[in-house]
Amino acid sequence: MTFEIKYIGHSAFCFKTDEGSILTDPFISGNPSAKFDIEQEKIINIFLTHGHGDHLGDAIPISRKYRTPVTAIFELANYCEEKGAVVQGVNMGGNIKYNWGTARFLPAFHSSSTPDGKYAGMPASILFDIKGTKIYHAGDTCLNSEMKTVGEIYKPDIALLPVGSFYTMDTKEALTAAKWLNAKRVIPMHYNTFPAINVNIEEFKTELEKSNIECVILKPGESLSI
Ligand code: NI
Ligand code: MN
Repeated sequence: MTFEIKYIGHSAFCFKTDEGSILTDPFISGNPSAKFDIEQEKIINIFLTHGHGDHLGDAIPISRKYRTPVTAIFELANYCEEKGAVVQGVNMGGNIKYNWGTARFLPAFHSSSTPDGKYAGMPASILFDIKGTKIYHAGDTCLNSEMKTVGEIYKPDIALLPVGSFYTMDTKEALTAAKWLNAKRVIPMHYNTFPAINVNIEEFKTELEKSNIECVILKPGESLSI
């Protein structure tokens, strides 16, 4: 059984399974790099790492239109519900079951508020298990030693890591994160969307490969088949 990891752009991904498509941090409208046609997808779940506009993105309008559940940390889920979304409020560490696999919210070191300035609970990373493949979406975060625990306990196969610096860790720290996470493959994210987070991504790939970690650079709109 296979599925696809489609990069929408920035930190937005679409995991395409036989059951339907799962969106994470669906920043599409207003994202200068986004390549995605929502009408082509059957969206069954939406996940949010935190409340910032470049992650919350279109989650609320998509949920209102298609009644797709938005899974987020309790406070952020409540905010989305107030705005008319269907929600599933969760918290750190629970193993949440779906017909396509599981999701678990884990730490990220960042801040989290809604675009209108309300407290959105803790920021998170999310560990997905889709058809037995473990995908770790780091959210927005600095390098942090929780990643050693994630590597030791959960052993992600693929790590989606922010590398753009300024708001998150940079490429040098993402290399350390990849090692700590014990990830075999890395897909970089949260770079080149705006000038403040421009990165020479080929240099990052070279550095990862020196450490025998595969780097899959996806351009917005491109997919990796698992
Ligand atoms: Ni953020
Ligand atoms: Mn961000």
